[in-house]
Amino acid sequence: MDIAVIGTGYVGLVTGACLAEVGNRVTCIDIDEEKVATLKQGISPIYEAGLEELLRENISRSRLDFTTDYEEGLAGKDIVYIAVGTPQNDDGSADLTAVEAVCRSLSRHLTQDVIIVTKSTVPVGTNEYIKALIEENLEGDVTINIASNPEFLRQGSAVHDTFNGDRIVIGADSPEVLDVLETVNAGFNLPIVRTNLRSAEMIKYASNAFLATKISFINEMANLSERIGANIDDVSRGMGMDRRIGEAFLNAGIGYGGSCFPKDTRAIISVAQEASYDMQILENVVDSNERQRGIIVDKVMDRFQSIKGKKVAVLGLAFKPNTDDVREAPSISVIEKLLDEGAEVHTFDPAAMENARKVLPEGVHYTDSIEAAVKNAEIAIILTEWKEIKEFPIEKYESLMENPVVFDGRNCFTLAEVEKTGVEYHSIGRPSIGN
Ligand code: UDX
Repeated sequence: MDIAVIGTGYVGLVTGACLAEVGNRVTCIDIDEEKVATLKQGISPIYEAGLEELLRENISRSRLDFTTDYEEGLAGKDIVYIAVGTPQNDDGSADLTAVEAVCRSLSRHLTQDVIIVTKSTVPVGTNEYIKALIEENLEGDVTINIASNPEFLRQGSAVHDTFNGDRIVIGADSPEVLDVLETVNAGFNLPIVRTNLRSAEMIKYASNAFLATKISFINEMANLSERIGANIDDVSRGMGMDRRIGEAFLNAGIGYGGSCFPKDTRAIISVAQEASYDMQILENVVDSNERQRGIIVDKVMDRFQSIKGKKVAVLGLAFKPNTDDVREAPSISVIEKLLDEGAEVHTFDPAAMENARKVLPEGVHYTDSIEAAVKNAEIAIILTEWKEIKEFPIEKYESLMENPVVFDGRNCFTLAEVEKTGVEYHSIGRPSIGN
């Protein structure tokens, strides 16, 4: 098939490269000239494991190309994927400005019949709106069909997830369109869920909302476990072995972040409000996650009362390991609170320092190693479970800090290994040590 993918963010780029890899001819269109020039050389502007190899291979096989020119990019294409961003408005609803701009460009430039496939996460009903918007301004005599094909990719492992996901969801209101998309996706060899447009849109929101709920649920169980003398590690393990529950996403911590869960949970609440439905569980999930982000500083303040002038090491700034992304990362509000309390904050992250500098307040110190951040600190706080941070031996805190007190927001160490040291240790949902 001949395919155009509009938008070369992490979803669009991974989609384009993977569709080329399974044998389609793909042109990616983006308005950013600099980005397109870089991509043409097979250089990825984002870090995704395996992506650059896919870009290079498929460019050299002439199955993948990039352009800023809609006319060139759409020429002879059977299918056009929309994969531009849908950030959140101040009221939590999805901002469709970029999607609408794409629709206007498509109306101007389409000269042949196409299937438009929406990858971007959009509120239920948006696909019908997209179709109407394109048709309203169409200049050529062409037929538009529309389909929804939401992605379930995790940042950092998006290429792997494309080939190893649990399912592919395709939604369309015509069986012929569903057949075409089933053929396009056949190369991924994954179970396919065929459904109508609105259900496909809903599956994406419902899946992310469910996972966010699972995290907030286990976080609340952790908070309670601390108070009644249970250990959340064992509680999660015991729960997860029940196949109806499943072991994934039962890691207690300081709350979910990133570019999807916070945005999508708020967006589905906003969709519900518009449908005059009170989405009670999710409203509590969002509030619970907000509270969870504050929990680590509460623990610090309970222990120290004042942290004015104290050196505090903050390890991990990215919202999760293996990414440089700090969007909605718990580290931002944690560091703001520490600074408000007068602490001297020294941070380290293996990949996210550059992005963190753009969003963190003035006065934060950036160091080039875990050692440098922790050396002579009075308090160390772990916010992201990077491999480097998990593998940095707990005994080292003892040698680097005079009276080592570690607050671990991601339960990186077992209580047994901490008990062998003189480190005072506070984690999430487990008894404290040495206090
Ligand atoms: C998520 C979804 O997994 C993906 O399907 C969707 O398309 C986009 O959103 P991503 O945001 O990349 O992907 O990260 P993910 O690995 O799912 O983690 C999200 C957040 O949840 C992170 O902040 C992580 O720290 C947190 N998390 C995850 C927990 O706190 N505990 C867990 O057990 C799992």
